[in-house]
Amino acid sequence: MFTKSIFVVTFILNKVTLDNASEESKRYIDREYELSEGYPLDSLPNFTELAAKYGYPSEEHTVVTEDGYILTIFRIVRGKKCQGPIRSPPVLLMHGLLMSSDAWLDSGPESGLAYLISNACYDLWAGNVRGNYYGKRHRTLNPETDIDFWQFTVNEIGSFDMPAVIDYILNYTSSAKINYIGYSQGASTYFIMCSERKGYCDKVQVLIGLGPDSRNTYLKSVFSRLVVEAYQDLYPALTEVGFYEALPRGGIVQQTVAFICQNFVIADTFCRTLLSMIDSPHPGSIETQTLRVLFDHFPAGTSVKNLVWYSQSLNVDDFQHFDYGTRANMELYGSLKPPSFNLSATTTPTVVISGKNDFLTVPADEEWLTSHLPNVLEHYIVQDSLWNHIDIAYSKLTSKDILPKILEYLLKYSDETDV
Ligand SMILES: *[C@@H]1O[C@H](CO)[C@@H](O)[C@H](O)[C@H]1NC(C)=O
Ligand SMILES: *[C@@H]1O[C@H](CO)[C@@H](O)[C@H](O)[C@H]1NC(C)=O
Ligand SMILES: *[C@@H]1O[C@H](CO)[C@@H](O)[C@H](O)[C@H]1NC(C)=O
Repeated sequence: MFTKSIFVVTFILNKVTLDNASEESKRYIDREYELSEGYPLDSLPNFTELAAKYGYPSEEHTVVTEDGYILTIFRIVRGKKCQGPIRSPPVLLMHGLLMSSDAWLDSGPESGLAYLISNACYDLWAGNVRGNYYGKRHRTLNPETDIDFWQFTVNEIGSFDMPAVIDYILNYTSSAKINYIGYSQGASTYFIMCSERKGYCDKVQVLIGLGPDSRNTYLKSVFSRLVVEAYQDLYPALTEVGFYEALPRGGIVQQTVAFICQNFVIADTFCRTLLSMIDSPHPGSIETQTLRVLFDHFPAGTSVKNLVWYSQSLNVDDFQHFDYGTRANMELYGSLKPPSFNLSATTTPTVVISGKNDFLTVPADEEWLTSHLPNVLEHYIVQDSLWNHIDIAYSKLTSKDILPKILEYLLKYSDETDV
């Protein structure tokens, strides 16, 4: 309770600080606004610029969802080290909660999965979802002023963003199928798509889940539990004061950690500890340089409602819809309890890759997930016993610990036809 009170105070301070934002943070907020209006964000390099820096030209694409959200996604057609023909079908990499496509670049060209997979001659797409800084535009709603923009959780991401991005890639590349790699929420939203949108998972040849999320019953990180529970406790108060967006880039939290973590010594100490609190410690896994840049892109923003969904998921032993309370549930779902997502509907051949030291998608929940998925080709447990959740995006060991397994299945489900 004491720790929660601290969060309450922090939130109020954040709100007050934002309302009386300093010139510096106002400039950030203006920049966020410019970005949402389609202007380039000039302060920090975006996906295209970052990849270009290391010799990977990329393309930017705009996807519009059925419900009007405008998402910017990226594509590396040919990795710098790819010699032969490009294999088909295209591969879509989908980031996790509070992240963006840029997470796949943060650990640099030797370890970032966008580089490594494109180097293996795959047509690599990096998606983004509603609510992060590449997904903060809408046909009719203004994220700054329309609260309806923020009325979403993983349910809408899975039901609308995933199908739109997949359809866009299929159409653009004239492919019949894609291969899909989902990290954490990037996998749970895939399961939701299969559950809620009949037929969509037939468009994917193989699904590779990296620390795939579903239920979160045994989530072990005390710090992460506190953060999402604080959002749930404060949900009524936050909405009352018009606070619907959680942890945006350019917000006070991201801005502060990005600023202090630029310092090498602080990055190596405080920022390293912060990440191990969010997940678990894994000494020697993340380069200090990665710690210095990743907080430019993390947290990347989502809706408060989405974090409340995560908080709810800590207290149930199932993977289910948002809980609105018995009366509203009855009206909306026709049952007192929210219905479960149908994991049996994920008929795509599935590979699950998970870590023993993952404090977010923990072994017990990953076992539960694989026992409910109907078409698991392999559940691969990373040999490194300290492998955790954030390692998937940021570790310098990806090419040794998870890439071979990813490439094994991509190869099995691909053809060598040049595009
Ligand atoms: C990314 O940077 C490129 C090059 O400066 C720019 O053309 C593009 O509009 C930017 N895209 C986004 C989404 O910021
Ligand atoms: C499919 O792609 C073509 C050209 O690449 C474009 O003109 C068309 O609008 C796209 N259709 C959809 C439904 O996105
Ligand atoms: C779940 O999906 C499977 C496969 O599509 C289907 O056979 C089953 O009836 C569904 N279950 C429910 C409860 O809808």
